[in-house]
Amino acid sequence: MFYKLAQKIMFQMDPERAHHLAMTSLRTTVNSPLDALYRQHIAPAPVTCMGITFSNPVGLAAGMDKDGEAIDAFAAMGFGHIEVGTVTPRPQPGNDLPRLFRLKPAKGIINRMGFNNKGVDNLVENLKAKKSDIVVGVNIGKNKDTPVEQGKDDYLICMERVYQYSDYIAVNISSPNTPGLRTLQYGELLDELLSALKDKQIELSKKFKKYVPIALKIAPDLSDEEIEKIAESLIKNKFDGAIATNTTLTRDGVSGLLNADETGGLSGKPLTELATKVIAKLHNHLSGHMPIIGVGGINSGKDGMDKINAGASLVQIYSGFIYQGPQLINDITEQYLKNK
Ligand SMILES: Cc1cc2nc3c(=O)[nH]c(=O)nc-3n(C[C@H](O)[C@H](O)[C@H](O)COP(=O)(O)O)c2cc1C
Repeated sequence: MFYKLAQKIMFQMDPERAHHLAMTSLRTTVNSPLDALYRQHIAPAPVTCMGITFSNPVGLAAGMDKDGEAIDAFAAMGFGHIEVGTVTPRPQPGNDLPRLFRLKPAKGIINRMGFNNKGVDNLVENLKAKKSDIVVGVNIGKNKDTPVEQGKDDYLICMERVYQYSDYIAVNISSPNTPGLRTLQYGELLDELLSALKDKQIELSKKFKKYVPIALKIAPDLSDEEIEKIAESLIKNKFDGAIATNTTLTRDGVSGLLNADETGGLSGKPLTELATKVIAKLHNHLSGHMPIIGVGGINSGKDGMDKINAGASLVQIYSGFIYQGPQLINDITEQYLKNK
């Protein structure tokens, strides 16, 4: 009820201004009487995945809380986990504005944010300061001005800094808005990156006496053969999980709509089926070696179950959360409990 009103106001505003307003409101109201406006009790629906127990299968996807500024507020809404980031070693402003667009009739979003974030050290301070014990994954990336061939170093720097403050680490090589980033999804570059991250994980797990699982986040714009190759590399390098999918460069189902021709990654309803297909294919190639976190166009309880039925163990929401509000966490969890 409250969300519908808030949404009405925010949808009159420029999308990025609305985002900043929402984040500031959440950050400043959490743990005050005002947080009753969005605090929700979600029925317990525990899921164990990558060795972690999640209170329910629904997480907040990366990109909404890039700097980990409102973790406690999202925890109050009842999410089972929150993926913060993408964070890069050094702060960076991201692409020029405007860079975020609503495709309202299609319940879609196009963004070309370009990893705007305040850098990994700032994120670590926010992780230290959070009060809730919700599961937090940290999604890591590379700075725009780091050449792709040296991208590996940026991931290693981020991993080292966030390791002891994360429940899991997500490796993002699938954003379409950092030039060249997606080339890390293929061939030797992928194998080299995954093997370096695995070595670092083993080293850090000894140092901190804590095993933090690592998962790879992939794009939906991959051929069957490419999905198979990625699965082989994930298995070979003993990764703990896969996250599918990021935003798409395709424009199926949105042509002619306002903003459909903007450059960037498309998310939300137009991505639903494509992401589900990628999850199903990945699930097939992974043959149970590791779990999948399903994301892309989940807009209802049924959409969430479709991802789980395609092979996902957990799901994440971003665009659906903008269009449906926190109630969506409840809708998906209820469907999950009914179908368990
Ligand atoms: C504005 C915006 C920013 C995003 N930023 C990131 C990001 O920094 N890192 C990342 O891995 N994914 C990012 N994503 C992708 C989402 O995490 C998610 O994979 C994608 O939007 C598909 O889910 P959805 O259809 O529920 O939105 C972003 C998405 C949006 C809409």
